[in-house]
Amino acid sequence: MNMVDIILKKKAGLPLNKEEIHAFAEGAARGTVPDYQLAALLMAICFQGMNEEETTTLTMEMMHSGSVVDLSGIGEICVDKHSTGGVGDTTTLVLVPLVAACGVKVAKLSGRGLGHTGGTLDKLESIPGCSVDMDEAQFIRQVRDVGCAVIGQTRELCPADKALYALRDVTGTVGSIPLIASSIVSKKLASGAGAIVLDVKTGSGALMHTVEDSVRLARTMVAIGKRAGKPIYAVVTGMEQPLGTHVGNALEVKEAVDLLAGRARGDLLTVSLGLGARMLMAAGKAMTLEEGEAMLEEALSSGRGLAKLKEMITAQGGDARICDDVSLLPHASRRMPVTADRDGWIAGMDTTAIGYCAQDLGAGRKTKADRIDPAVGLVMQVRLGDYVHKGDALAVLHINKPDGASEVAARVAAAIRISEEKPEIPPLFYAGIGPSDV
Ligand code: URA
Ligand code: CA
Repeated sequence: MNMVDIILKKKAGLPLNKEEIHAFAEGAARGTVPDYQLAALLMAICFQGMNEEETTTLTMEMMHSGSVVDLSGIGEICVDKHSTGGVGDTTTLVLVPLVAACGVKVAKLSGRGLGHTGGTLDKLESIPGCSVDMDEAQFIRQVRDVGCAVIGQTRELCPADKALYALRDVTGTVGSIPLIASSIVSKKLASGAGAIVLDVKTGSGALMHTVEDSVRLARTMVAIGKRAGKPIYAVVTGMEQPLGTHVGNALEVKEAVDLLAGRARGDLLTVSLGLGARMLMAAGKAMTLEEGEAMLEEALSSGRGLAKLKEMITAQGGDARICDDVSLLPHASRRMPVTADRDGWIAGMDTTAIGYCAQDLGAGRKTKADRIDPAVGLVMQVRLGDYVHKGDALAVLHINKPDGASEVAARVAAAIRISEEKPEIPPLFYAGIGPSDV
């Protein structure tokens, strides 16, 4: 297969066939096609796009470029959920125990924090003793016995995606719907779930900034699932402000526990219930969203969700007493408020910038080798549409190193726009797309 011919074909806007896409994915996975040719083809795909059939073929080729997890030993359908990434987005820790408490198995392979977004594995590791490393046999046993497990990946899944993603990151080719859709869905299919719910974020803290693009991405991923024979449900949700109030690893665990204990509600819980209800539907446990949400509300109010989180933490070696006493989580040595410099309405947030502020305090990594400080981060004190007076707290930083904290505080303040005019509050749910919609 001549790579130059494949590049020229895509450059001319023609669809690639299965052999050509195989050569591309295989060449990326094995390192047999040089990076400059892969990069040229990625750029041609960015400009010319891919049709649904090509995108599905690319997804399947990337999925089969590495290991595929076999969850059939669990004996029941397992559902998985994936978010395209946001700030203060702790839905996994809230909905996994709730969905499992409703009798649907959740086998979740999660990731580390990336850029301005947090990662579920880092959050779980902030719980004393909690491990996210286990072999596949242990993983399957825990899902069967406890009903849920959240771990890091054990074998190399989708090496083609790994190579292509690294190139996309440095060649300005991340933002292409067929490339994003195939990247996400190939990894979800390789991790073995029988049904998948995808949370596509839209807004200032998301990969996709416009609702139109987010809906197109969601539809594309649902359509790939349909062609691949896996039910995929996608929801487009707002990321115009941090979803929860807490941003940072132990801080987000605390917020998840507060929600599961019934001490708090808010947008994070609302989105978790919406996604969880679709997981129950995808598994055939609920017929409608209303029915699914009612089941989850019952698991929440009865305390069965929190009990399931305790079981999962215990099974993963962690100290489940944090569920009864959140002060056992790591906490930062100092707090520093960020205050409003004028009266007005909270009219907008640069959510990505807020995510980077938490990273700079030590909650995220700038390079793979960086160590995370589990205790640090920030707690938002305002939401869009709130009215504040000069001097009111906008956020509270939780810090361990005073160096640079004032500069971060100034950046948090700059990321929050205060206006004399009352703003419109953006919706939380923009669209829900299922297999029957594509
Ligand atoms: N997340 C992924 O896994 N892949 C992308 O291309 C974008 C976001
Ligand atoms: Ca290479």
